[in-house]
Amino acid sequence: MLNPAAIASLIGVYDSGVGGLSVLRALKAKLPGESFTYVADCGHAPYGDRSASFVESRAHDIASFLTGLGAKALVIACNTASVVAVQSLRERYTLPIVAMEPAIKPATQLSRSKVVLVLATSNTIRSPSVARLCSTYGADTRVILQACPGLADQVERGRFHDDVTLQLLEAYLRPGLDAGADTIVLGCTHYAFLVDAIAKVAGEAVTIVEPSEAIASQLSRVLSASTALPHNTAATTTFYTSGPPRELAAFLDFIGEPSAQVHALPASGS
Ligand code: DGL
Repeated sequence: MLNPAAIASLIGVYDSGVGGLSVLRALKAKLPGESFTYVADCGHAPYGDRSASFVESRAHDIASFLTGLGAKALVIACNTASVVAVQSLRERYTLPIVAMEPAIKPATQLSRSKVVLVLATSNTIRSPSVARLCSTYGADTRVILQACPGLADQVERGRFHDDVTLQLLEAYLRPGLDAGADTIVLGCTHYAFLVDAIAKVAGEAVTIVEPSEAIASQLSRVLSASTALPHNTAATTTFYTSGPPRELAAFLDFIGEPSAQVHALPASGS
């Protein structure tokens, strides 16, 4: 049974699946006194090639579930859901919502070769948000947009280094690297689990921009500026999944998330 005080001041975090756990890790490190409830929509992952209306409808179902638990803030730890649904979520809810978008701005500032490679899902790559980022920050930089079908599935299966993952990475990275990219933006939270494999394919000279710490800082700023309830003394982290709970529990074990409680997402949210 969850402590009602913890429920009343939790921070809701969600992703299509396990990718947002990379963000959750940074949130917990930055805000150790906060309680988090993470929803992995594994039963519907990946979102990358789903219709926008489906991703948006999932966003509303999950936001409704998390606000029903008493969330004081939401973190959409998924670029795809963010670019598709953040606007309509902000129209419906008044609580602070932290969303993601590919870190194109910092990457263009970091790049010396002035060629940046963005890896993301097909939905994110073709979104108006990414087009806007490219036109705003890409004046003196070539921004190469690379959709990566199949990569998030490999992460869902915990296959961070297997041959299929390395072949996909080779196929997705090589054109950008050959074009001179020296900076790679991870525009999908699943890819944070592939940093070592990406570095192996791209070489150590390439800079990989992974935004989870920036998102944690943003959440911290948003909480300080809001009237949200203060954190608890006994911070907890609770997990829900629309897939089999034992699979998420196994993944959490695999990445070293200590003694995680995993529940089935109730039907209203699944
Ligand atoms: N982790 C997600 C993102 O940041 C989506 C991956 C997927 O479900 O395709 O875009």
